[in-house]
Amino acid sequence: MVKELIVKDKRALRRISYGYLWVYSNEVKDLKGFEEGELCYLTDSKGDFLATAYVNPHSLICARILSGKKIKPNIQFFENKLKKIIEYKRKIVDLKNSRIVFAEGDGLPGFILDFYGGKVLSAQFNTKGADNLKEEFLKAVEIVLGDYPVVIKNQSVFREKENLDVEVSTKGNVPDEVLIEENGIKMLIPLLKGQKTGYYFDQRENKKRFGEFAKGEVLDLFSYIGGFGLNAAQKAESVTFVDSSQTAIDYCKKNMELNGFESGEYIKMDAFKAIREFKKAKREFDLISIDPPAFTKSRKTLDRAIKGYANLNREVFSLVKKGGIVFTMSCSRLVDIQTFDRIVEKAIVSSGKKLRVIGRLYQAFDHTVLPFMKETEYLKGLILMRID
Ligand SMILES: C[S@@+](CC[C@H](N)C(=O)[O-])C[C@H]1O[C@@H](n2cnc3c(N)ncnc32)[C@H](O)[C@@H]1O
Repeated sequence: MVKELIVKDKRALRRISYGYLWVYSNEVKDLKGFEEGELCYLTDSKGDFLATAYVNPHSLICARILSGKKIKPNIQFFENKLKKIIEYKRKIVDLKNSRIVFAEGDGLPGFILDFYGGKVLSAQFNTKGADNLKEEFLKAVEIVLGDYPVVIKNQSVFREKENLDVEVSTKGNVPDEVLIEENGIKMLIPLLKGQKTGYYFDQRENKKRFGEFAKGEVLDLFSYIGGFGLNAAQKAESVTFVDSSQTAIDYCKKNMELNGFESGEYIKMDAFKAIREFKKAKREFDLISIDPPAFTKSRKTLDRAIKGYANLNREVFSLVKKGGIVFTMSCSRLVDIQTFDRIVEKAIVSSGKKLRVIGRLYQAFDHTVLPFMKETEYLKGLILMRID
């Protein structure tokens, strides 16, 4: 029998009615007796039904809503959900190279599903509740999309927080790498050895815009497998890739060669050290992308992260040529758009350079944002131009 969990907090009740999908542990009556990942029906204090959710009594986010209806999260439930998601996603992106399921953003908390080249799927189950339901979810994926090989990249820090194993497993014959095309650029993706689900689809449109500004010497800082630099390589004189991961740098090279671009410089190095070396050598660039990993995933380290972003940006601003362009981004969910604006403003002042904001950057269309749930909005950035 599915147990009931009473939501006592008025603001939580209002948020749920708006479509917010999380309930916090101080907003419910009693979590005693619930197991991690167990299904529950949320009710108000009068006993009126609110939603079907799964619970984690040991987490600050103690319940995540799967549906506003009384449902059983079986194969049929996931089939219906997936069909609906696909119906709108296929109108905004090439489904074969996209984030098909973006967890809370698509109303499926904890579930991530990416499609690579229309050939291989990559999934993540980031909570105990999602992990418990992975068989039903994957069966529904097979029914709706077809019987594709799936790599399950259960390596996220969120899993550690939920005391779940951090592991990579496969279903079917998953290749080590897969070739996709994005913005007309061929990208070889290291599926098994790569980061996250294999690639960062969330920057698709930003990479395209980056390419539109390409000229002269281009710097792709925190390049991963080179998405930003590759989009600029056609028009640039040279593209310098910097990443601390050897696999990432190897794939930058492979991808440049694959596209017939010969102007690459590949630097496996800590980005801060690389910046110091560029400064020492008095090197400047016409176009720079700064796309660091999330500097914080917890409020406790937010202040330190803000300082980190400010230092990074200030230092990089001294590498921009006159008339040059910088794409600067942050994927830390806790650093919101306003905070990031302030960070960049301060960094501009302390760099002593004259930079103007000429555009904003956001997460790709398939990383859908749930209204009233700002937590689904995580990627933000600015396009800056040096005008002095
Ligand atoms: C958000 S990802 C970049 C994604 C890439 N720009 C894209 O859109 O495809 C961040 C990258 O920074 C790299 N990285 C992390 N810490 C680093 C450091 N201290 N110096 C250089 N690279 C670092 C990681 O290996 C990862 O490839």
